[in-house]
Amino acid sequence: EMVEKQGYQHFMLKEINEQPESLKRLLALYLDDDQLDLGSTGLKNNWLQDYDKIQIVACGTAYHSGLLAKYLLEDKLRLEVEVEVASEYRYRNPIINQRTLLIVVSQSGETADTLAALRLAKKNGATVLALTNARDSSIAREADLLLYLNAGPEIAVASTKAYTNMVAAFYLLTVDGMRQRTEISRQEVQAYQTALIKLPELLRQVIEHTGAKVEKIAEKYAVQEHIFFIGRNTDYTLALEGSLKLKEISYIHAEAYPAGELKHGTLALIDTGVPVVAVGSRIDIFSKLFSNLKEVKARGAETMLITIENQDFEASSVDYLVELPEFNQYFVGLLTIIPLQLLAYYTALFKGEDIDQPRNLAKSVTVE
Ligand code: G6P
Repeated sequence: EMVEKQGYQHFMLKEINEQPESLKRLLALYLDDDQLDLGSTGLKNNWLQDYDKIQIVACGTAYHSGLLAKYLLEDKLRLEVEVEVASEYRYRNPIINQRTLLIVVSQSGETADTLAALRLAKKNGATVLALTNARDSSIAREADLLLYLNAGPEIAVASTKAYTNMVAAFYLLTVDGMRQRTEISRQEVQAYQTALIKLPELLRQVIEHTGAKVEKIAEKYAVQEHIFFIGRNTDYTLALEGSLKLKEISYIHAEAYPAGELKHGTLALIDTGVPVVAVGSRIDIFSKLFSNLKEVKARGAETMLITIENQDFEASSVDYLVELPEFNQYFVGLLTIIPLQLLAYYTALFKGEDIDQPRNLAKSVTVE
């Protein structure tokens, strides 16, 4: 096992560190001479016009990638996007027709509920696009279109590099859709494409620069019983994924909220010393997030802020700060996943938990 871990103590840490390379492998499949080309997925050059809505259906971490995608796809493509967990979708008679594009997302390609959702949508005339890391899985075989994630084998139960490639795959779809819209300039499309190509290098820098800092914070978190995560827009979906990572492997109760929703209930739980992690990569709404952070600080919370460097804010409200490099506003969110994954990893490490094989969980859930 040590050989496969290549010197890392756990597969999870190895897989976190592999993300720049595994993202490069995905981009290599779909960027030809730096020009985006999704033709090999089976998608038509002008697919956008064929659909009235997109439904994204998945479970767990894959579901979180879909939640993030909704914000981007609706913003940039002006096409309706619904996101749902597969176990709900399959039992509720959703509205599906021939102008529906169903996107199923699955690392393993074998998740029973996701496969059932795929079959339901196909039966009702939808076109199914699979985003999966297993090319010869059931989901890959039964889908009409296939975007292969190419993240390489993921061993740790808590998904890391597959999530990153799922989000990046949605970035690719977003840019490909933007290209089809006459309202969007060629320069803008090109700028997004160029940003995508730079993403692996930025991930590498973030891994290099945040590890030691996050490890120190995690030592404090390891003794906590509850940890809250907040964010707005795409950062809210990253908060969800960060809290899932933490509870999966550290067994600490973690919850993520849209920051603006706090005062509708959860604020009652914020007391002296309760940790709140604010994910704040969206500069357009940073001031809104920060005012929520001040609200929890005023109630005694111990705050951690993940944001982009050179922001203006009152440092006295932030106990732990993790800064990320400036980057394309729409893609920068993915960088926050690195400190979130590392926070979960090191917290579990300090607690001495079985990081790669958390209790009660399986890598792939092939039964209902
Ligand atoms: C399990 C795994 C999760 C994963 C989910 C969906 O619960 O423990 O890490 O996100 O299944 O798996 P999939 O293979 O469909 O992405």
